[in-house]
Amino acid sequence: MEHVHNEPEPRVISSATGTPPELRRVERKMRIHRQPKTLITGIGAVDQLGIEAKKLNGTKVLVITDEGVSECGMCIDVERPLVEAGLEVDFYDKTVPEPPMNTIEEIVRIVEKGGYDLIVGFGGGSPIDVAKAAAVLPHTGDTVYDYVGIDQVRKKGLPIIAIPTTSGTGSECTAIAIFANEKLNVKQGLVSPFLMPNVALIDPALTVSCPPNVTAASGMDALIHNIEAYISVNATMHTDSLAYEGIKLISQSIRTAVFDGGNMWARDNMAMGSMMGGIAFGNAGVGAVHALSYPIGGMFHVPHGVANTMVLPWAMDFNKLACLRWFRQFGEAMGENMTGLSDREAADVTVASLRRLADDLGVPQYLSDVDIPESAIPDLVEGAKTQARLWNNNPRKFTPEDMERVYRNMAVRPDAKA
Ligand SMILES: NC(=O)c1ccc[n+]([C@@H]2O[C@H](COP(=O)([O-])OP(=O)(O)OC[C@H]3O[C@@H](n4cnc5c(N)ncnc54)[C@H](O)[C@@H]3O)[C@@H](O)[C@H]2O)c1
Ligand SMILES: [Fe+2]
Repeated sequence: MEHVHNEPEPRVISSATGTPPELRRVERKMRIHRQPKTLITGIGAVDQLGIEAKKLNGTKVLVITDEGVSECGMCIDVERPLVEAGLEVDFYDKTVPEPPMNTIEEIVRIVEKGGYDLIVGFGGGSPIDVAKAAAVLPHTGDTVYDYVGIDQVRKKGLPIIAIPTTSGTGSECTAIAIFANEKLNVKQGLVSPFLMPNVALIDPALTVSCPPNVTAASGMDALIHNIEAYISVNATMHTDSLAYEGIKLISQSIRTAVFDGGNMWARDNMAMGSMMGGIAFGNAGVGAVHALSYPIGGMFHVPHGVANTMVLPWAMDFNKLACLRWFRQFGEAMGENMTGLSDREAADVTVASLRRLADDLGVPQYLSDVDIPESAIPDLVEGAKTQARLWNNNPRKFTPEDMERVYRNMAVRPDAKA
């Protein structure tokens, strides 16, 4: 179905640089807003795990994580509060980053045999998403492939507590799980209220061990969630307020978090900005950046945050003409001084600011940086075309030719061209 939307309505967001208040967005449509019932944030949040698990009537808990997290010695941080609360705990640490769908069945069988009554997702977005699937699939006879798309999960599963160790995906706050469909070579999403964690414990201390490349890539993912939610045609006052604040927090802190990883001010801001991004995009949706990055991740196994960062400036440069004032506003949230600039000029400053951020963090921006050949572009376009769920949120319509132009622009780093 053709997606139609009007010239974006300006929204009131007071800005540091004093852009005059404009007309407030009028929310005429009925909207559902979803987030976990309980969010506990700040240093020490993870210590609440035992209490929260008991409130959900947990007695035997399976903690789903990955080897990267368990090798950091962090499992004790979740084991201790659960054991102290008198609960039985097992760990599964075989989750792989960007989990392929064919890895889900193993964990479903483990949950079925183990008789667990509570699932804890502990890690980045990958283990948290696997935990969501592991909560709803057991004893259904269904497979993860059956649940791709919107509202395909048939029934409520086991309760879920999500504990992020990256500041990135916001998965702890979304009713979404993303997997790599290895049969189609593309990332696909499951969207259902049954995937929403009951509780999210967002403890910035758990992110301190993230190495700079993980902090940078996952942090850019969080920034992009906020930006794409902010310019989404499905944005609301609720998502705008979170997204604007999330953009501010992350822009202020991401460089410090990457280059001075022990800085708790930066880690705390990143954790909050990532949570805000999760709630904002979980309700308003994400658009072109994610739609164009999913085939890069699906076909070439580029980490999600890296693929998103590569696409970001190019997709945003294309989007800006559909919503110049929103670009001005979120550029201000990024700390840019727009005084005296027209909206058109301000939007260019915003796009340049995104590019500079990716440069500063050293995240790849070109397909050639991650060894993807130009010959892959037609297949990337085919993959991006399948992401209808995401295109429906995007402020500017992309034709297949526009998608191809973005990929061609980002194909080869200019200084690498002959
Ligand atoms: N469900 C959602 O709403 C949603 C949203 C966006 C992205 N995603 C998905 O989430 C996945 C990406 O998640 P991610 O970016 O958080 O990365 P990740 O979970 O794939 O982890 C990346 C790497 O970082 C390591 N790591 C994680 N925390 C660490 C820590 N504290 N210390 C040291 N190492 C640590 C992991 O072991 C892993 O090797 C992708 O599959 C993406 O599609 C889901
Ligand atoms: Fe994302």
